[in-house]
Amino acid sequence: MEDRLAAVKGMNDVLPPESGRLGRFLEVGRRLLVAHGYREIVTPIAEYTALFSRAVGEVTDLVEKEMYTFPDRDGRSLSLRPEGTAGAVRAYVQHAVHKAEPVTKWFYAGPMFRHERQQRGRYRQFHQIGAEVFGIAEPGVDAEMITMLVDLLSALGVPQARARVSSLGCAGCRPFFRERLTSFLRPRAADLCEDCRRRLDQNPLRLLDCKKEICATTRAGAPSTLDVLCAACRAHLDAVVADLAALSVPHQLDGTLVRGLDYYTRTAFEVHSDAAELGTQNTLVGGGRYDGLVEELGGPSVPAIGFAMGVERALLAIPAEPPPAAVDVFLVALGEPARRWAAARARSLRAAGLRVDLDHRGGSPKRQFRRADGLGARLVILVGDDELSRGTAALKDLRSGEQQELPQDALLAEISRRLSG
Ligand code: HAM
Repeated sequence: MEDRLAAVKGMNDVLPPESGRLGRFLEVGRRLLVAHGYREIVTPIAEYTALFSRAVGEVTDLVEKEMYTFPDRDGRSLSLRPEGTAGAVRAYVQHAVHKAEPVTKWFYAGPMFRHERQQRGRYRQFHQIGAEVFGIAEPGVDAEMITMLVDLLSALGVPQARARVSSLGCAGCRPFFRERLTSFLRPRAADLCEDCRRRLDQNPLRLLDCKKEICATTRAGAPSTLDVLCAACRAHLDAVVADLAALSVPHQLDGTLVRGLDYYTRTAFEVHSDAAELGTQNTLVGGGRYDGLVEELGGPSVPAIGFAMGVERALLAIPAEPPPAAVDVFLVALGEPARRWAAARARSLRAAGLRVDLDHRGGSPKRQFRRADGLGARLVILVGDDELSRGTAALKDLRSGEQQELPQDALLAEISRRLSG
């Protein structure tokens, strides 16, 4: 295929059976979040670019290098969302949600777009399930969120999920950390990449997540945020860690943890899995507290915390099972009157909640049975002129090989009995 007619690099088609795995994953995720009192929001895929520069930070890889940004037909700069928090906070502020409720718990699931270097587990269009809680400053919610994530990943079948937790301080103590970090790095500037040298004055915290080897070596021994926390931030972090320990959640306090987005304050966390399939891309979830962002985007001063999980990455960590059957029941019809009867019966069985198909091309019973097999059907209803004239149909159980002729009005009860057995 001509290159320009193929899918965009890094933006993958998701076809069956993988699309089924993706759908089931999202379903389990949604169910768990609903069980924790979250409600779903849907925000646009594109936002004004200024929203991301303000929320995520002008001097971040995400905004400087990774966004899909383009002018719309009115000449305004739009960007495909690289993450979901900015849009969620924008919606929270725009609709003055704080006036209607003191605490808001939202989740979202959908595609995000980042023009990153491609590798296994890193794509340019990928899905996130994310959640945000507005209105709670207390550390209990931080620990509850981390606990929920570890539980969610294990419910989804991800092996060995464990959290790394840190604190990035607040508007009070962050400047001291910045100062310390800059004093440490400035004399070493010659051994930093060009981006980091530029960011040293603009946004020194971003130097901590530069992936280049030279920068990682230069940073060795740099101060940690944990060294500079004020008493309130220290108490907050201690309380989060104490809750996690009390709940026996596998976690590790890690002062080297930094996040690639500027909005975080206090608690920052990631959840990793040791599943071999993940290689270096083993961060399944990233999140943290962002107590200043609602105000920064024009809203009231409302504390908030959230996370996002990379769905494709989590799927890589889950052992693939054989794909489930596409249908429960397949109708094999011999002749046109039987096909028409089968079409009507398929409709009523579908209305009863069963997954049902038939082959409108007709053809030999052998060919139709082959199709039933291909779809993984457990039961086949077989009808021809004889059965129609008797008001019956044959029901064949493809698992046991048993076949019986039944009155047509007894079919549904027998199908249900067999499928539940
Ligand atoms: P993030 O750490 O940028 O955080 O992304 C969260 C997760 O999305 C990552 O841990 C990873 O699993 C997945 N992810 C990121 N980029 C890619 C990619 N190119 N390909 C595949 N998966 C990827 C956020 O997005 C924040 N909005 C999280 C948050 C919500 N913080 C507070 N509230």
